[in-house]
Amino acid sequence: MPNGIRVIMLGRQGAGKGTQCRRLADHYGVPHISTGEMLRAAVRQDSVVGRAVKAVLDAGKLVDDAMMISLVQGRIGQEDARVAGYLLDGFPRTVAQAESFDEITAARPVTVVVDLVVERDLVLDRLSARRTCENCEANYVSTGNDPNPWTCDSCGGAVRQRADDTPEAINRRLDLYDSQTAPLVDYYRSRNKLVAVDGLGTPDEVFARLQRAVETARNA
Ligand code: AP5
Ligand code: MG
Repeated sequence: MPNGIRVIMLGRQGAGKGTQCRRLADHYGVPHISTGEMLRAAVRQDSVVGRAVKAVLDAGKLVDDAMMISLVQGRIGQEDARVAGYLLDGFPRTVAQAESFDEITAARPVTVVVDLVVERDLVLDRLSARRTCENCEANYVSTGNDPNPWTCDSCGGAVRQRADDTPEAINRRLDLYDSQTAPLVDYYRSRNKLVAVDGLGTPDEVFARLQRAVETARNA
């Protein structure tokens, strides 16, 4: 994508942020920066960050703002993001993170903030049925009659339920979304950055809507 399109993808858990950001990243040639994936990779590697955040992640709580801001600042400073831009999935998630991000990106502000809208009662089924490759994070849907063992079609990794896709952690994550992240919709709307996109329909239909929203913002 020429001239660095920089996109923040908001949307509650299960709205399809990861699913759609992967497709948009392929389509536009920009890195998909998912803070959840970065944290889960740190846990798998058993790094200092991973050891610090594992229990927080598994419980569906939020990692502290300072750690997240520093993680994202480091990532968007890498060459691929500086050259091409980025699709930011899972950050910011609190007003404090958004305010810091505005400061960090003052010279190169985001092009558009997309709110991928799916109501709370509709994401529960999606999250309960989600199975994820532990290696490449490809998503699969459980039918109740799943292969055992289940290996990823793309990379051969083990396909399992995410540790935070238990009913208790899902509900905690959705509550935190409503209290901590939903206020960002108004935050960005008041700054004329927000576009709401309907997240219902097939992944292809949602992708087409997102593409139109990105193109409109890019040409504005
Ligand atoms: P993160 O990894 O960001 O998880 P999340 O916010 O809980 O969001 P999800 O990944 O569950 O939802 P998604 O919208 O990506 O849905 P998906 O595309 O998979 O964060 C994990 C944790 O990390 C947090 O809880 C927190 O602890 C920590 N963290 C991360 N960032 C942080 C931050 N900034 N500050 C503090 N802590 C942070 O889709 C879901 C399912 O639906 C899939 O099975 C998919 O196949 C299916 N699906 C997708 N689209 C459709 C469709 N159109 N129709 C039907 N099904 C669909
Ligand atoms: Mg995700």
